[in-house]
Amino acid sequence: MVLQPIVHQGEMGKDLEVLISKLEDTAFYPGLFEAAFDDEAITSDRIAEALAQFVKSLNVFDSKYDQVKDGQASFTEAELIGEELFNENCLTCHSSHQFSILKPLSNTLTTTDPGWAEVTGDELDLGKFKTPSLRNIELTAPYMHDGRFQTLEEVAIFYSDSIPNFSYYYNPNTGQTFNIGQIDFDDTDINNLTAFLQTLTSNGLTTLEKFSDPFQNPNAVKPQSLEETFVIYPNPFNDKTTIQFENPNQERYVFHLKNSQGQTVLSFSTNEAGAVLERNGLPIGVYFLEIKKGDRFRIDKIVIK
Ligand code: HEC
Repeated sequence: MVLQPIVHQGEMGKDLEVLISKLEDTAFYPGLFEAAFDDEAITSDRIAEALAQFVKSLNVFDSKYDQVKDGQASFTEAELIGEELFNENCLTCHSSHQFSILKPLSNTLTTTDPGWAEVTGDELDLGKFKTPSLRNIELTAPYMHDGRFQTLEEVAIFYSDSIPNFSYYYNPNTGQTFNIGQIDFDDTDINNLTAFLQTLTSNGLTTLEKFSDPFQNPNAVKPQSLEETFVIYPNPFNDKTTIQFENPNQERYVFHLKNSQGQTVLSFSTNEAGAVLERNGLPIGVYFLEIKKGDRFRIDKIVIK
């Protein structure tokens, strides 16, 4: 399931085979897969396993809401009124500790996306979606399955103003109705409701180092550069050139030759202390040779003349 957002056209729309070759082409992912799974192989099952593990680790119950429920903190007046508004109008669907329920529902959005009906084939499921968790909702804009709302205020206005008769069962995509009454928020209500929703933000999620951007955080895993000396001779070359380096323990070195657009035009690997790079009909020009060993790498400029 964790792969769905990667392949779904409405989200990343990425072919898994293309994704795998992109990950293989980075200087650091093969090494990271080896660290996690004992060898460098990148497969969709491994990607799913790693991502699922990461997603599960995002369950950090240290929000202000959790602290208040534990008796460690107290809501401001706005948050308290917001909680009441939430319990009255939203809790039916955004229930339990996660503020979600698994059963797909319509929240009265009009949409051309078949939603749950795509899975069941039942017309009565048109436009029904899983009720998402509202934990950390402040951090995950835009909102709804198609990201149509940019802010929580817009969401609150939608639930209030755009729906003449907000009802548990009203589904504009199927016509099913069961009225549970109109929500009518004014600006103060919307501010209070938003204040409450913001208490669902985990503190750790935004401050724990393990959730920081690995490319920004100086302490996180980073590709290290290869320190060995590589002699590439001749360079520029015409037919072929040789790459020589020390490799006493017969470790595996992987080479990717990339053109100036960054596309890989040639890949090879060796456990020896050298390799021959053949022209193989490549056009004249400037290339970049990426050399990797585990999660270490370096890049050398190569010219074909
Ligand atoms: C009838 C059930 C129902 C009720 C009542 C309801 N919601 Fe929802 N809510 C949903 C469903 C279903 C979705 C997912 C819709 C989609 O993805 O298009 C959703 C989506 C959302 C989202 C977007 C989540 C995201 O990650 O994109 C927010 C925010 C939200 N609801 C807040 C509220 C608030 C605040 C209330 C009360 C004013 C409320 N909901 C009442 C069913 C409901």
